[in-house]
Amino acid sequence: MITVIAGTNREGSNTLKVAKTVATMHRELGVEVKLVDLAGLPSALLSPGAYAEKPEGFTEAFQKPVLDADGVVIVTPEYNGGFPGVLKLFIDMLPFPESFEKRPTAYIGLSAGASGALRPVEQLQMIFGYRNAFNFNKRVFMPGIGDLLDESGAIKDDALRGRLREQAKDFQEFVAALRPVREGGAHG
Ligand SMILES: Cc1cc2nc3c(=O)[nH]c(=O)nc-3n(C[C@H](O)[C@H](O)[C@H](O)COP(=O)(O)O)c2cc1C
Repeated sequence: MITVIAGTNREGSNTLKVAKTVATMHRELGVEVKLVDLAGLPSALLSPGAYAEKPEGFTEAFQKPVLDADGVVIVTPEYNGGFPGVLKLFIDMLPFPESFEKRPTAYIGLSAGASGALRPVEQLQMIFGYRNAFNFNKRVFMPGIGDLLDESGAIKDDALRGRLREQAKDFQEFVAALRPVREGGAHG
């Protein structure tokens, strides 16, 4: 199972639109996909007590899709040269170390500006490297996001859709190749 995380909670988010497209691409390759939309995070997650006791709904709808995933795909926008604070809060609220230990993780970035969220993606790769995730290094960047989507939220450019499809296919191969390592096989 692949879990796609839409890395912001902003209303009307472009990240969510792209995450939906990416989820469909993975489904078309024959795997089960879960989409995690951070807009649905319980607001009680901001409560000081949330580190110790998770608010109602968090475990089933947000934690389980990460813990059950064979691979995680993170779609992140660029906010002030970084990834959104709500995505870091989400990461911090997940159990340590099992959430990302040996978990294959892929990245897609989007931004209004010219970088396509290169900075946020590299910040995430650094954090996930620290967490012993298996970083998948074929990333996709989407600069100038304001011009890339049509009114329905679909990606207009064939070449860009092709890059996302290729990432999905290669990531699934990466996930499959690492399965013996994750399951503690000969190289685990
Ligand atoms: C709080 C905030 C900060 C932003 N900072 C940047 C930035 O540093 N660089 C950039 O290129 N775009 C920046 N943008 C524009 C976003 O990359 C663009 O709006 C993109 O659509 C955001 O993804 P979203 O629609 O999923 O929120 C920012 C947008 C927001 C809401």
